Amino acid sequence: MVMNAIINRKSVRKYSDKPISDEVLNKILEAGRLAPSWVNVQPWKFIVVKNQEVKDLLSLASGGQKQVKTANILICCVADLDSWNRTNFGKVLEQKGLDEQAREGIVTSKLLNPSTLGEQIALLRSVEQVTYAVAYMTLEAEEQGVGCCVIGATSNELTHLDDGYAQQVKEKLNLNERQVLVDILALGYEEPVINAKKLRKEPSEVIFHESL
Ligand SMILES: Cc1cc2nc3c(=O)[nH]c(=O)nc-3n(C[C@H](O)[C@H](O)[C@H](O)COP(=O)(O)O)c2cc1C
Repeated sequence: MVMNAIINRKSVRKYSDKPISDEVLNKILEAGRLAPSWVNVQPWKFIVVKNQEVKDLLSLASGGQKQVKTANILICCVADLDSWNRTNFGKVLEQKGLDEQAREGIVTSKLLNPSTLGEQIALLRSVEQVTYAVAYMTLEAEEQGVGCCVIGATSNELTHLDDGYAQQVKEKLNLNERQVLVDILALGYEEPVINAKKLRKEPSEVIFHESL
């Protein structure tokens, strides 16, 4: 099942007007919510955008990418760097049944809490976690027959495409300075259906045994 979704998934950038039901949308969101992460920190927030004005702003912030404004629904995938702090990370660890001493050990550990290594590493590791959730959602979208395109080229702290738009997006989505829009998932039913060839590097170029 998973392999079928991996093989058949492709980026879809043209959509019909057919709406995505809440039931289907919730399955896609659930795939993101259930994704794995570093010590289960789950440093993500998913913002569902249906409002056309917000879609238009996000399209402009993404260099005018048309699929962002024509998508039926957007899921803005946000990394929340505060997820690694004592309060938020602590809450996740408490759910695991860890006592205060064990929680403190993890929150202050360089190995288990990479955000202790500085802001840049915290951003990098947060993006790494969000990417898992994004990947899971793309596969569930495929499973649900919904077309999907990951939009990474958008104005934010990672691209500096347009800092003016980045700020407007932050305000519109109500993000604080420690919440970074990593990717936008543009979702909609594909129309027209395009038979795209999967272009990938050969196995011999990317797979090695024991060493490169
Ligand atoms: C992290 C990430 C960011 C991407 N950003 C964009 C984007 O901004 N605009 C776009 O049209 N496609 C974007 N894509 C889609 C890629 O171009 C696409 O996945 C790649 O060309 C392979 O094609 P396929 O998805 O159809 O297999 C992105 C994909 C990923 C994984």
